Amino acid sequence: MTTEQKTGPIRDEVQGHRGSSAIAPENTIAAFRQAAEHGAKWVELDVALNADGDLIVIHDDSVDRTTDGSGNLGALTTAQIKALDGGSWFGTNFTGEKIPTLDEVITALGGFGLNINVEIKQHPHHKSLDQLVNAVADAIAKRPSHMEIMISSFDPECLKAMHKREPNLELAMLWGRVPDDWEAKLAAIPATSIHAHYKGLCIALLEQTSAKDIKVRAWTSNDPVELASFWHAGLTGVITDDPRVYLG
Ligand code: G3P
Ligand code: MG
Repeated sequence: MTTEQKTGPIRDEVQGHRGSSAIAPENTIAAFRQAAEHGAKWVELDVALNADGDLIVIHDDSVDRTTDGSGNLGALTTAQIKALDGGSWFGTNFTGEKIPTLDEVITALGGFGLNINVEIKQHPHHKSLDQLVNAVADAIAKRPSHMEIMISSFDPECLKAMHKREPNLELAMLWGRVPDDWEAKLAAIPATSIHAHYKGLCIALLEQTSAKDIKVRAWTSNDPVELASFWHAGLTGVITDDPRVYLG
């Protein structure tokens, strides 16, 4: 038995939130490339369906905030999304950066040596849970053999459907504050990981989850001081806009 106290995450447990989104436009190849260059092994990204039924890597259900265009994701074709500039809003040195599809990201990140936490977003324009989950399952089935994938979602129904389709994938339930009946909720999926807002964590919870081999990762923390008291209690990992602050 070791008496050493855990004071931070291991390298494999630092995920770039939407890539290295502190220094490059979120959910773009540029942000993922930066995460790899910063030494991250994992990135988190957000996916949702567009009008063509393609999976687009974007956080919001519209392109308004992160492109030079406007409109709801569910009303835009892939060709229309590809014509947008997804970089200028962040900085002029990213002008021309494209909004990628999940297929494109999987191909690029295979080359970067990155693993992916695919966060499935549920938006009002989605008509079919099965269409959404099957599209994700089909996309990740094409990943290179060296790439690891985990799936996360705020929607337990997405995770339940994914478990039926891909029972061996790591599934993470996303919560702001972790509910008191977390164990029953995870078992109903079933999922083995919790991704919680760091302000919704406490030491007592982490001692319970670690005793039951449930992984807990905190989002979105960009300052190691915020998590300093949690590692020895069993916090597994962190999802951060700037992996450099946790990788040292
Ligand atoms: O996966 C953690 C985090 O990405 C969840 O919140 O809104 O940034 O997708 P959001
Ligand atoms: Mg996300």
